[in-house]
Amino acid sequence: MSANIPELERRRAAAMLGGGQARIDAQHAKGKLTARERLDVLLDEGSFSELDMFVEHNCTDFGMEEQRIPGDGVVTGSGTIHGRLVFVFSQDFTVFGGSLSERHAQKICKVMDMALKMGAPVIGLNDSGGARIQEGVASLGGYAEVFQRNVLASGVVPQISLIMGPCAGGAVYSPAMTDFIFMVKDSSYMFVTGPEVVKTVTNEVVSQEDLGGAVVHTSKTGVADNAFENDIEALQATREFFGFLPENNRTGVPQLPCDDPWDRLEASLDTLVPANPNQPYDMHELLAKVLDDGDFFEIQPTHAGNILCGFGRVEGRTVGVVANQPLVLAGCLDINASKKAARFVRFCDAFEVPILTFVDVPGFLPGTAQEMGGIIKHGAKLLFAYAEATVPKITLITRKAYGGAYDVMASKHLRGDLNFAWPTAEIAVMGAKGAVEIIFRAQKNDPAAIAERTAEYEDRFANPFIAASMGFIDDVIMPRETRKRIAQGLRMLRAKKLENPWKKHDNIPL
Ligand code: HXC
Repeated sequence: MSANIPELERRRAAAMLGGGQARIDAQHAKGKLTARERLDVLLDEGSFSELDMFVEHNCTDFGMEEQRIPGDGVVTGSGTIHGRLVFVFSQDFTVFGGSLSERHAQKICKVMDMALKMGAPVIGLNDSGGARIQEGVASLGGYAEVFQRNVLASGVVPQISLIMGPCAGGAVYSPAMTDFIFMVKDSSYMFVTGPEVVKTVTNEVVSQEDLGGAVVHTSKTGVADNAFENDIEALQATREFFGFLPENNRTGVPQLPCDDPWDRLEASLDTLVPANPNQPYDMHELLAKVLDDGDFFEIQPTHAGNILCGFGRVEGRTVGVVANQPLVLAGCLDINASKKAARFVRFCDAFEVPILTFVDVPGFLPGTAQEMGGIIKHGAKLLFAYAEATVPKITLITRKAYGGAYDVMASKHLRGDLNFAWPTAEIAVMGAKGAVEIIFRAQKNDPAAIAERTAEYEDRFANPFIAASMGFIDDVIMPRETRKRIAQGLRMLRAKKLENPWKKHDNIPL
């Protein structure tokens, strides 16, 4: 037997142990899994095929030549999720705090390059103290190599980042350029400069959690798309989420078996919209009744709740869903909602995921905060995203579609393929009260006249028929038939071909 065989086993065992049992115990004591344990949960059993297990760093400064750990703080390779190929990297906090060295970066770049060649998604499990301090600029260069690949892969293969520990400094920009970020509550954080630097520069005292914890990024900033209670929940949710995604920008959406009848009628939808136009209702209920088995994977559920974004399926095929939510801010579009939905629409368009848009929108949110915050530019993002999208687009107006927001929300004029309305739809420049106050200002002191004018305006505009008579609405449908009509529409649109004029790239209002 070659002496190299026991040597191989010895080396493998050393690599499997990462930074050693004491550090593994410390990782567990924080409620975190190790890099390898995480991959075991994420990938189909036995599917992981590791690369570069024996790679070591090349640093000779600060006594580093004495400390070489095979793998150099990141476990990389490929595997499958529900039988579909995925490339992965998982940073090992037990090895130099998961910090990124030149070689560590090379390992990540290798799997990213392979993912691009093979047309498979990349999932990165981030748990790192940032740039390997001992390596200086070599480490910074390593980050930039990763960033460059994030950009080249953007729109070609889906990229998902899980933040499962620290992610600080420039290191945050790799996840930020991927398509989706999931965090783990209480054990992960992301910030450009940590609490100590913040204190030195601005004199503010803030904890890691308040500066960049999962709650902050899933509610306030919208940097992260969702947060989970612990590593296992986050990894299992990622498996479920992965099931919705196409492998790349050419394969189209996955097709799963589906037992939910495509023509299922839902009588309860006929009464979903309350008689009082100012009374809210939960748009989730409509989504649950239209999508296969009521299954909706929501993105950013706790950020900009006035718009819902997420994935579902119709007849086993993935759809991207965007829906105004009357329960929050009456479903108005504001800065955060526009940014959230615009990015989602662009993901769907890049990866050939058909978009379903459910509209109940009284307009853009008024106010100085919104105007000073640049709602003009941010609202334009969503308009731009819908207008440039060439994937199948089906829109349903359930109730209000007022003003500019009518145009924005995948209207016929933005190349909506099928634009439906329920009989309860109201399509107008604005609500009756506001409209009458403006056009009949002279009668403002005559309440009877104003009431009469308001009723007149409602009679004329509080319905979908004028828009339908102009061909802006393709059909007015009974709410109970919504799933059936959408399923038929998606079938009809499956072979849709539409191309935008040639350009290097567009100039979306950033
Ligand atoms: C080298 C590092 C390291 C790093 C941690 N370690 N960060 N080694 N380079 N960046 C090592 C520690 O020395 C320690 O080694 C082990 O990892 C665990 O670290 P601890 O500090 O014991 O862990 P903990 O108390 O949990 O604190 C984690 C931490 C802290 C908050 C991440 O380690 C920390 O603040 N690290 C430095 C973070 C940082 O400033 N990074 C550079 C950011 S700038 P031993 O041997 O004791 O186990 C940056 C620029 C990127 O990243 C730019 C891209 C463009």
